[in-house]
Amino acid sequence: PTIRRTDYQPLAWTVEAVDLYFTLDATATVVRNRMRCRRQGTGPLVLMAEGLERLSLTIDGAPAETVRETDTGLEIDLPDDADEAVVEVVTRCDPSANTELSGLYHSGGGLYTQCEAEGFRRITAYPDRPDVMARFTVTLEADKAAFPVLLSNGNLVDSGDLADGRHFAKWDDPFLKPSYLFALVAADLVVLERRETTRSGREVLLQVWVEDGNLDRAGHAMDSLVHSMRWDEATFGLELDLDRYMIVAVSDFNMGAMENKGLNLFNAKFVLAKPETATDVDYEHIESVVAHEYFHNWTGNRVTCRDWFQLTLKEGLTVFRDQQFSADMLAAAGGESARAVKRIEDVRVLRTAQFPEDAGPMAHPIRPDEYQAIDNFYTATVYEKGAEVIRMLHTLLGAEGFRNGMDLYFSYHDGQAVTCDDFVEAMSEANGVDLDQFMRWYSQRGTPRLRAEGRFDAAARQYTLTLTQVRPDGDAPLHIPVALGLIGPKGADLPLTLAGEAVGTVTTRLVELKDTTTTLVFEGIDAEPVPSLLRGFSAPVILELEEDDRRLAFRMAHDSDPFNRWDAAQRYMLRVILAMSADAAKGELPQVPEPFMSAFGALLHNEKLDPAYRAVALTLPAEAYLLEQMSPADPVALRRALIVLMRHLGERLADSWLGLDTRLAVAGDYRYHPADAGRRALRSLGLRYLCAAGVSQGVERALARATGESHMTDRFGALAALVNSPASAEAAIALADFERRFAKDALVMDKWFAIQAGAWRWIDSAQPALARIEALMGHPAFSLSNPNKIYALFGAYFRANPAEFHRADGAGYRFWADRIRDLNGRNPQVASRMARVLENWRRLTPALQSAAQAQIKALLADKALSADVREVLEKALGDA
Ligand code: ARG
Ligand code: ZN
Repeated sequence: PTIRRTDYQPLAWTVEAVDLYFTLDATATVVRNRMRCRRQGTGPLVLMAEGLERLSLTIDGAPAETVRETDTGLEIDLPDDADEAVVEVVTRCDPSANTELSGLYHSGGGLYTQCEAEGFRRITAYPDRPDVMARFTVTLEADKAAFPVLLSNGNLVDSGDLADGRHFAKWDDPFLKPSYLFALVAADLVVLERRETTRSGREVLLQVWVEDGNLDRAGHAMDSLVHSMRWDEATFGLELDLDRYMIVAVSDFNMGAMENKGLNLFNAKFVLAKPETATDVDYEHIESVVAHEYFHNWTGNRVTCRDWFQLTLKEGLTVFRDQQFSADMLAAAGGESARAVKRIEDVRVLRTAQFPEDAGPMAHPIRPDEYQAIDNFYTATVYEKGAEVIRMLHTLLGAEGFRNGMDLYFSYHDGQAVTCDDFVEAMSEANGVDLDQFMRWYSQRGTPRLRAEGRFDAAARQYTLTLTQVRPDGDAPLHIPVALGLIGPKGADLPLTLAGEAVGTVTTRLVELKDTTTTLVFEGIDAEPVPSLLRGFSAPVILELEEDDRRLAFRMAHDSDPFNRWDAAQRYMLRVILAMSADAAKGELPQVPEPFMSAFGALLHNEKLDPAYRAVALTLPAEAYLLEQMSPADPVALRRALIVLMRHLGERLADSWLGLDTRLAVAGDYRYHPADAGRRALRSLGLRYLCAAGVSQGVERALARATGESHMTDRFGALAALVNSPASAEAAIALADFERRFAKDALVMDKWFAIQAGAWRWIDSAQPALARIEALMGHPAFSLSNPNKIYALFGAYFRANPAEFHRADGAGYRFWADRIRDLNGRNPQVASRMARVLENWRRLTPALQSAAQAQIKALLADKALSADVREVLEKALGDA
């Protein structure tokens, strides 16, 4: 059934307090749930329940009489004159049979929960909606030997031993919370602890719980937690509100992590790190995911969502907060250039994941209007575009105005479940600005385009810029902040003076577009300038500005805005690659234009630019983004072009890459630091190009680094270079060496699976990715019940290896359909994510389109399809 945003109704009965008693067992867990319910409207008490065996149900101590079973659970009529009732329900569930990993499930011998969005109803019968905020007390009882550690939300108030080798722990959460923030852990774990004092002087206990043997990998997560606490205190005046804050690493987990009150559960890959097993990128991800979940404590938990359509209220805001945190951390250690690199990486994610989503059949506003399965709406749009919308508010209001808006938001709504309107209204009121037009960002789907045209009038010494918004659905105009500058012929920014103003000195200005067309006239311009628009990517739009190759090369060399300088390089690369792909599609040998080679070389040789910056600037746009720009999308032609281009860049610049590789080597022990990480990133990128070209010195260095005594960042960088190169003999040696070293380390083996699933086929004789993947499915380290393995082996193939997946013979699509069918029965959330990889099939070449469509249709004929997968495939198929 379709759920609609405008159908929201408060429940007739809410829960004020709930007391849960868990008799835990891997195959038969009994939950006694006592709820103090309060009437707030007319109608029955509604409880959601899924897959539970009901053992008893009483109202105020007497067996319940009028209970109706519904599609989603139970409805209970309570006396008309009753305003309060104590409802007690006892149910049983089987955690070991829970392969969906939603609700209470078994992983690696322990018991864990995941409740957002609708998992709590798989644990007990409850009004499982975010607008029901209750006070929770929880008692856990279990066998002490099997489950020595018993954790839940809040503060530990009692614990002890029971008869028959059992024990218990009682937890009390002093804060009201919705059921999706409930969590429990019963497992055999060890803990890393730290005591900190909050800004107001309270002692808090911080814990990171991991499996025995992993304590030496928990330190970075702990450091990240402390940094997050300090940052939120300093930036937003927000403190930790509990005496104890726990992070628990779980091996089987559907997503990244979950912000349960005081008890965050994490996919182990976002907790565990030591230099031998984790790359710089892993360290960065851990820091930002730990921060993200910590920041949710205020933006999500203290103030939560009224209903799931408001998801971006907490997710967009919290992603924005974690992006700012990471940027500040990087800038503190690596300067402003490191901040720019972070912004570039965030925009790269947006363009690769969100732009295609917004241009396809799953397109939705950051606040969707309807859904069938809410789990399908934890999307790049809600998260990443949602964060861009918050960032625009930050840009428009300034850091101080934004902070004032946050303060007002908490003063009004602490302890409440609210809507996106409530947030924007607080921002508006605190700053005395009208944000009604801005609210349209919450209701329009699709990426807006911004068409820009410049005209220079030498006689009048004027430069006129015309900016026109083009919205995909032809909706009403948006309120768009555009930061812009004009670059003079010598490469320096010009002071910007608008007609009618006193002569100014500012070189970057923020213009607020509110109309469909805005015309800006700049005065005192002596020679035709080069516009630099949307500096810092000030709005999530597609900029359409005609620029010839010379201009792009000029901006690559001179744009003072580091984001736009990078973007100029991306645009130039995009143009070159699309032209080369068109040649490849015609069966011609693609040619690399010489002016592009000089512009690329100039960036590479510019020692004034930090290595980290050069690494992002010299990385080609992601294949998924390139395919999005190509019509029709021809993954095989694109790959041929990329291979030629990479070979050319490696061969022609071989001496430079080799020189950098020697000069930028990092001495001493590994430390996670942006300056070191930047050097490592540029060296690994160099190996990619060198190996792609088969440059023998490059291949030798890569093999030595992949198989020698080094840390994971260098080792994996070198392995990736070899696997994606014609050096197949060296690649095989490196892969075997890696397997031997890490065979017992599940997280590291995920890297090994993923790198092979994503491997480019360099020469026609190399093994196709699909054959390798089919063989790897039988590898002892592979497992269909572990989501990380699915994402590593199948996800990397479907998403990161388009040329091998979109095979002309349709074998990739058949393999895809078989995986969806199989995963659908095990884990619909994971299956649905994998199902989405073909949603933009209509952009493919005609032959690929019909092969893809046939598989989608065949899957849809299956009656057993979960709601999650069905929604995705039906939308993908459309009215065909
Ligand atoms: N709230 C979690 C986070 O962003 C993610 C929960 C995702 N849940 C889901 N069913 N996909 O940190
Ligand atoms: Zn989140």
